[in-house]
Amino acid sequence: MPGTHLGRPAAYFAENFLLPLTTLRERQTMKWQFYAPDILPAWVAEMDYALAPAISDVLVWWGQRQEAGYPYRQRDRAEFALARAFSRYTRRAFDWETDPADVLAVNELVQATFLAIMAFSEPGDGVLIQTPCYPPFYEAVRDTGRRLQTSALVDDGDRFSIDFEHLERQVDPGTRILILCNPHNPTGRAFRRDELERLADFAEAHDLLVIADEIHADLVYPGQRHIPFASLRPGLAPRTVTLNSASKSFNIPGLRCGVMHFGTAELKTRFTRRQPARSLGYPSAIGIDATVAAWDSGGDWLEGARHYLADRRAQTLTTLRARLPQARMYSPEATYFAWIDLSALALPEPAGSWCLRHAGLALNAGETFIAKGEPRVRLNFATSQAVLGQALDRLANAWHASNSPVLSAAAPGPSHGE
Ligand SMILES: Cc1ncc(COP(=O)(O)O)c(C=O)c1O
Repeated sequence: MPGTHLGRPAAYFAENFLLPLTTLRERQTMKWQFYAPDILPAWVAEMDYALAPAISDVLVWWGQRQEAGYPYRQRDRAEFALARAFSRYTRRAFDWETDPADVLAVNELVQATFLAIMAFSEPGDGVLIQTPCYPPFYEAVRDTGRRLQTSALVDDGDRFSIDFEHLERQVDPGTRILILCNPHNPTGRAFRRDELERLADFAEAHDLLVIADEIHADLVYPGQRHIPFASLRPGLAPRTVTLNSASKSFNIPGLRCGVMHFGTAELKTRFTRRQPARSLGYPSAIGIDATVAAWDSGGDWLEGARHYLADRRAQTLTTLRARLPQARMYSPEATYFAWIDLSALALPEPAGSWCLRHAGLALNAGETFIAKGEPRVRLNFATSQAVLGQALDRLANAWHASNSPVLSAAAPGPSHGE
């Protein structure tokens, strides 16, 4: 059994939770199953690590018990145990006091985004999204018959930042909701307090409900801090629905469990009047147990993962700088995504499909996050040093091969040797 990190979190993580490529290739998950075996996947938001011991213990417990009745924990329904664990987690991680009574359990956060849009707006109402954005946000607006309004984060030369003048131009009297993704997928921004304060002023001035998707809140790198939007100032809570789960930070999206936190009891009542709580169903008890275990007892694993990921972030930056300096990216402040601009390569086709075809590397295509943006890809660096090295090599080699007549004759495609 792995012990604790004893002040060496990245080494502890590397010693205990890395998996060989052969094992990863056997994973029955979207990341590893979607593409053919000669493709190296560095796309969808799954991490290539073994589970936190606290979560493995839950799965073992479930395997051993001969029971699967309606789940009760501490003489109470399991979803209340989840809500109480959420409150312990927000207090400990963000110094944010939350009332378990203001929490509803959901299966997943995309579901929660749809539900919040449907409960707090009418068909035809405007929903404002900051682009580039997590693709299901587009679906959530489109499929609920709401009106999509977008405002792009701008590259200010140092980072992606919020263009407040543009936001003001986009909003109109029919805008009801702002979806805030913080930390931001795909740019990796962890918005600073002053940025969130201005966004809060904006939401208040236009009387917007804010859906704050904070699923990446735990994956913030040293030197940055995640500030829950609802915790910024007391006046914001009544207009903020916060979505969170352990599914990204502990890599358990398959266990289907998350929470919606309503800033006030009134806001929750407004929601349940439109969307009765029982109509949501409940997450599975295994998902609840795993999430409670992650929040209560996953600290060492998470600390290790954060440090190990910080090293992979550095590896990505250093390798690209050395081997493909035309690729531009900012060092993400949070998340395990590199949002890479490949404009300087002047590729003959969209960057994602070029990488797939010429590098044998599956990345997320930039155009799924923002239409008409520059040619970009999102690379998921939550893997081992060795696999990340192979991914970056594939990218750089493909580019150099495609640019050198001699090399391209000698190197017909990606290496299949893993
Ligand atoms: C911003 C954001 N929200 C939601 C999700 C998905 O959450 P779930 O699997 O709980 O629907 C992701 C997954 O990567 C994400 O990046």
